[in-house]
Amino acid sequence: MHKLAYSERVTITAAVSGASGYAGGEVLRLLANHPEIEIGAITAHSSAGSRLGELQPHLLPLADREIVETTPENLAGHDVVFLALPHGASAEVAAALPEDTLVIDAGADHRLEDPEAWFRFYRSEHAGTWPYGLPELLLGPAEAGTAGKQREKLRGARRIAVPGCYPTSVLLALTPGFAAGLLEPDDVVIVSASGTSGAGKSVKPNLLGSEVMGSMSPYGVGGGHRHTPEMEQGLSNAAGEPVTVSFTPTLAPMSRGILTTATARVKPRAAGDVAATLRAAWESAYDDEQFVHLLRPGQWPATQMVAGSNNAVIQLAYDEHAGRVIVSSAIDNLTKGTAGGAVQSMNIALGLPEGAGLNQLGVAP
Ligand SMILES: NC(=O)c1ccc[n+]([C@@H]2O[C@H](COP(=O)([O-])OP(=O)(O)OC[C@H]3O[C@@H](n4cnc5c(N)ncnc54)[C@H](OP(=O)(O)O)[C@@H]3O)[C@@H](O)[C@H]2O)c1
Repeated sequence: MHKLAYSERVTITAAVSGASGYAGGEVLRLLANHPEIEIGAITAHSSAGSRLGELQPHLLPLADREIVETTPENLAGHDVVFLALPHGASAEVAAALPEDTLVIDAGADHRLEDPEAWFRFYRSEHAGTWPYGLPELLLGPAEAGTAGKQREKLRGARRIAVPGCYPTSVLLALTPGFAAGLLEPDDVVIVSASGTSGAGKSVKPNLLGSEVMGSMSPYGVGGGHRHTPEMEQGLSNAAGEPVTVSFTPTLAPMSRGILTTATARVKPRAAGDVAATLRAAWESAYDDEQFVHLLRPGQWPATQMVAGSNNAVIQLAYDEHAGRVIVSSAIDNLTKGTAGGAVQSMNIALGLPEGAGLNQLGVAP
């Protein structure tokens, strides 16, 4: 039996890199409450030598822990290593860690299957593809008999690429319709609003309170956002044909949360009671899920519903006049959109209960 099998009840140690940042801080918040995990090395870059409490004052029980430099030596000797580093920084660190260490990368380096797509958007060498950390993701068209969920690919995995926060919200919103063969692949329009923590903790003028408070603005307009190929990858796999998306992110005056509005043209095959056919596809995709919830008819997602929880909430409507489905989803970008997805994937990989250390309860108001 593998040394990390849950039934053996060993203490599982985890190191967290990027611990001074938003994603690393959220990983630590969740691990501190995880019943099976002992937090080991806490690493970062320019803040090495500081106490964690100076940079993450909300993580009180860990306040006295010293942040050390992110090196393979400091990350070695743990069962699990979380990488929450700027993209491009994780491949080298991961390559120096043993194959039987579970390495979970919150960055983009190992998400894309297509090296050309990686080069087009990141202008560097592709570091390879790891199993994608979105357990609820539908993998293929139901009618082709290939449907299944990503969860199965995470069991026993020792390298996991956590999805981007926008792709998490978009893929959960749209894959049920594509896997069911109900949506046209060439007319998908997505607009997402994100809180400012999605851009990380480093200082940028457009993220100043005076720029963001009381104002919303788009960025990465015109197909340039780096999460676009990741969305197309997941949607195309689910559809069994190439899917093209037009994606526009916007910055919203809140610290956490993503609200996605995605629309696609409905295929003629969904004739009859189209609204009911659409709803049935989403229901069957998520009925058994503990963290993805199709809201009751008429109730629409809001970011506050999911703040601090690992939930994604979804609602859809059929716009008969336009012949389109409108799907809305809300996640907390730092929880389900990063650290929660990472911990959920870790649990599956190690054979722990999938929801261990994760919260279904949001914080409101
Ligand atoms: N924020 C989100 O909502 C979100 C969602 C999904 C995925 N992610 C991904 O998670 C990763 C971290 O994002 P973040 O938002 O947490 O960013 P962040 O707040 O800016 O934190 C970046 C972290 O990386 C460290 N770092 C910076 N340069 C480094 C280097 N050259 N080598 C090693 N460590 C370095 C920083 O350490 P020092 O502060 O000590 O310099 C800090 O701990 C990114 O790849 C991001 O795309 C973020």
